[in-house]
Amino acid sequence: MTIVPVSLGARSYDVLIEAGALDRATELLAPYAQDRLIVITDETVAAAQLPRMRHPNLVPIVLPAGEATKSWRQLESLCDRLLELEVERGEHVVALGGGVIGDLTGFAAAIVKRGIGFVQIPTTLLAQVDSSVGGKTAINARAGKNLIGAFHQPSFVLIDPTVLDTLPARELRAGYAEVVKYGLIDDANFFAWCDQHAAALLAGDPDARTHAIAHSVSAKARIVAADERETADLRALLNLGHTFGHALEAETGFGAALLHGEAVAAGMGLAFRFSAERGLCPEGDAARVVEHLRRLGLPHDAVSAGVGAPGERLAAHMAHDKKKAGGRVPFILARGIGQAFVDKSAELGEVAEFLDRLRA
Ligand code: NAD
Ligand code: GLY
Repeated sequence: MTIVPVSLGARSYDVLIEAGALDRATELLAPYAQDRLIVITDETVAAAQLPRMRHPNLVPIVLPAGEATKSWRQLESLCDRLLELEVERGEHVVALGGGVIGDLTGFAAAIVKRGIGFVQIPTTLLAQVDSSVGGKTAINARAGKNLIGAFHQPSFVLIDPTVLDTLPARELRAGYAEVVKYGLIDDANFFAWCDQHAAALLAGDPDARTHAIAHSVSAKARIVAADERETADLRALLNLGHTFGHALEAETGFGAALLHGEAVAAGMGLAFRFSAERGLCPEGDAARVVEHLRRLGLPHDAVSAGVGAPGERLAAHMAHDKKKAGGRVPFILARGIGQAFVDKSAELGEVAEFLDRLRA
């Protein structure tokens, strides 16, 4: 068992990582739920993993799977259901699922009765290494993704790497993009580890899987503890690849055509190529990143992500970025592998020309 503390003063909590932990959920969750265990999940996870959670009074709330569940309609119906169940402020509800269920449940927990407790049991690799830790919760709005939300930290995160046994290979690979992201941000040694072990991880090697999860969670915990509300240009580094990636997702409709992690992979390849083109990063480092992603079957630019749109069109999507300030969109660029930084100088016109040059 590995325990990673997330140190946030009164909002501190532990992330427990243990193969088989889901089978011990009743015991491990006892401090958070004794009389009953309200578990919010989606239809796919309910079939694949919920039966492993044995509790004498388990109350499941099963929602449709997929990004569309992060909606006002599903939020309203989840809040109403929790109120019908007369959930108390001191009670905890459990999010069992990927980032969709975690984000929706966390947001409902933030607003029902002005805030109840919640526990994350992430079931995708993406959710295990990123979305379940750090307290960002949200639903999508007509104007864009994750635009309605709150910071609301979970009280506990329980990670069982064996739940990934039922995750489709494509979802696993997409989630891996968020693993290697930590190496690219500030940990060149971890990138080297990923380069050596990623294939085994994706093939299901339990040691590689557990090491990658524990290392990623530790990195995220360190960053969140230092900059919980993303005000110090530190947590923002976790958005490496996201500005380019978000434009690709917007172009493909935020659906199965391009998964979030695939878009992040393509975005990271683009961020390194753009950094190299601007003379910030050695060409060799950008080439290593692109080759790493390509070798693992992940996209590394717009074309390999299936997007042939002109640069100007992709830049127009970026102009709606929620992190835009003073008319400028911040980009996470890099001076090399493990040396990411926040850049506020890039013009969208320059980005559009760069994308067109790559497309040509
Ligand atoms: P997801 O929650 O939609 O899960 C992907 C698919 O896998 C779904 O169909 C789900 O039913 C299925 N699934 C989940 N676990 C499974 C399992 N163990 N076995 C079989 N099937 C399983 O997607 P995701 O990639 O986990 O999360 C994406 C979401 O996370 C996006 O909405 C994104 O905005 C959000 N996100 C949030 C943060 C944050 O900090 N809060 C960070 C990154 C991403
Ligand atoms: N996934 C980005 C963050 O948690 O800040």
